[in-house]
Amino acid sequence: MAAFLPAPFTAQQLRALQAQLDTPALLIVQERLQKNILAMQALAKGSHTSLRPHTKTHKSPQIARWQLEAGAQGITVAKLSEAEVMAQAGFTNIFIANQITHPLKLKRLRSLHEKVTLIVGLDHPRQIALLRPHFENASRPLNVRIEIDSGLQRCGVPPDQTLLRLAQTVMRHKWLNLEGIFTHAGQAYAAQSREEIEQIGHEEGALMAKARALLAREGITIQTVSVGSTPTVPFSAQNNAVNEIRPGNYVFYDAMQLALGAAGAEDCSLFVLATVTSRPRAERLVVDAGSKALHTDGAALTGHFGLPLGIEGRVVRLSEEHGILQVPTDCPLQPGDPLLLLPNHACAVVNLFDAYYLVDSSLQTEYLPIEGRGKSQ
Ligand SMILES: Cc1ncc(COP(=O)(O)O)c(C=O)c1O
Repeated sequence: MAAFLPAPFTAQQLRALQAQLDTPALLIVQERLQKNILAMQALAKGSHTSLRPHTKTHKSPQIARWQLEAGAQGITVAKLSEAEVMAQAGFTNIFIANQITHPLKLKRLRSLHEKVTLIVGLDHPRQIALLRPHFENASRPLNVRIEIDSGLQRCGVPPDQTLLRLAQTVMRHKWLNLEGIFTHAGQAYAAQSREEIEQIGHEEGALMAKARALLAREGITIQTVSVGSTPTVPFSAQNNAVNEIRPGNYVFYDAMQLALGAAGAEDCSLFVLATVTSRPRAERLVVDAGSKALHTDGAALTGHFGLPLGIEGRVVRLSEEHGILQVPTDCPLQPGDPLLLLPNHACAVVNLFDAYYLVDSSLQTEYLPIEGRGKSQ
């Protein structure tokens, strides 16, 4: 049985919330969200880096606004359509930490470039050729950052001659501005221990320092060296070469971050409020939150599909509309009772809901639409 996680609400408070909200519902404990925003800002300040949070986690202009109010310098997005949502909401400094190559997207990218300060990722000369017809006659250069592979083996060039050649190619195009380099050490999500995460974080920072030095030796100076994933950022940010961090998940945390030791239960701010629909056996509880509310991501890491709060147990199986929990036979919950669940992967769960309910300390709820939800193009 999984360890017991204390609930942020009493059973009575949970009933009061359930009386107002149909389930499954996505809840944010406001105080914890604000505390997480301030804590990461303090980490950025302490490491003399600027924070450009990845907003693919929450996909909410309002939460991004709170991040900027706390001191964040610009935002990161994963997709052009997320960038468009954020630009529409008034954000003017946006890094798309991704490569844009679809012909229809290139046109939209140009039109976004006219409106906001935009940065996009690059890791291949062909991407420059694709951008060229859309940007060579623009009134100002397009800012680009070269992606470095720091071990995730997804996108990115190694910090060697490949990086140098690509940087030199970028420099030859006056319609491009090589603003910086970036990486994401997402391999930390497969780490077996805190020590391994720490090592990956330090390596992430060191590799970026090496990349910057390589460019500098050839006379190529860049403004930004950007790193970030929630688990590695406390370590990668310590490297003096790093001057920007881009964590995303830290606003909410989740059961994956708990399993990695990157957060404690009291840090988690995002929950799925569910209702018990059945108790077919003493050890089996069924709730109305299945894979369409909890998502299947992260089970390989955590060994479950989500954790209940305030009772022992874990979500052992999901079908689309049913979450199946294994609970102790003396678990008091019955059909109709509310249950709060900590999802495995907050970023994936957010994309399944239209809105959050922001819950304050007096149990007032505020409806917060997730404007970037489903913006996957
Ligand atoms: C390019 C990039 N930067 C930053 C992040 C943020 O990482 P995390 O969600 O671990 O904070 C991600 C997450 O997938 C990413 O892909």
